[in-house]
Amino acid sequence: MNIYAHRGNSGFFPENTMYAFEKSLDLDIYGIELDVQKTKDGVLVVLHDETLGRIFDGKGSIKKLTFDELREANLNDEKLKDKTNCKIPTLEEVLELIAPTDLNLNIEIKNNKVKYKDIEKDIVNLIKKYKMENKVLISSFNHKSLKIVSKLNSKIKTAYLVGPSTFKYRNLKKVLKICKDCKCTCIHPSYDVVNKEFVDEAHKKGLLVQVYTVNSITIMKKLIKLKVDGVFTNYPKIIKTIVND
Ligand code: G3P
Ligand code: MG
Repeated sequence: MNIYAHRGNSGFFPENTMYAFEKSLDLDIYGIELDVQKTKDGVLVVLHDETLGRIFDGKGSIKKLTFDELREANLNDEKLKDKTNCKIPTLEEVLELIAPTDLNLNIEIKNNKVKYKDIEKDIVNLIKKYKMENKVLISSFNHKSLKIVSKLNSKIKTAYLVGPSTFKYRNLKKVLKICKDCKCTCIHPSYDVVNKEFVDEAHKKGLLVQVYTVNSITIMKKLIKLKVDGVFTNYPKIIKTIVND
């Protein structure tokens, strides 16, 4: 079972910060998941939201702010806001941290709401720079991005993210066809859309099924029975206790 620390070890440390990633290094898990956006001046940054305000103070869209402006933002947490490893990190800073370790990395391109020009190319170039093609998996809710990634570098694996809204417009057959067209090796469903038929049909197509975001032991037990291949969790240490392999 591949266990990923979702947004770093984010149940206990501030999500998508170097602090949360550093605190994932000795968890003895498969990998780390993070989210990527792009600043006005073209820097790839690790942040879940398209805007400031929820995790970091300040206002505005990431797309309209420069990296220096973003770096000024502090965590909305009085105790942690002055820590240097609690600023918005660049993707490059995280790759430097993860490259020498045994951990795998799932880079989620957050471009289903906002379009970022050439974000796929920039990410692929950075992965090449750190020679991480074999330990990175790129995912997105935007399947067009996955197709671009696989055309840019067929060595880098990709995963299609599917949640309840995906199924408003498509059935499972269509979703699996998208995975095939985009040459995905994995499918990443939300825990509330996955069931036996989903897992079995995806497996028949040769896809690994890795489920997000699993923060409950009860749900995890159900997923183990369904034979999913991996999970994303904010609590890797706890989820690990009920997994045998
Ligand atoms: O990549 C899995 C999961 O992170 C997708 O949803 O909103 O937590 O980025 P979200
Ligand atoms: Mg994510």
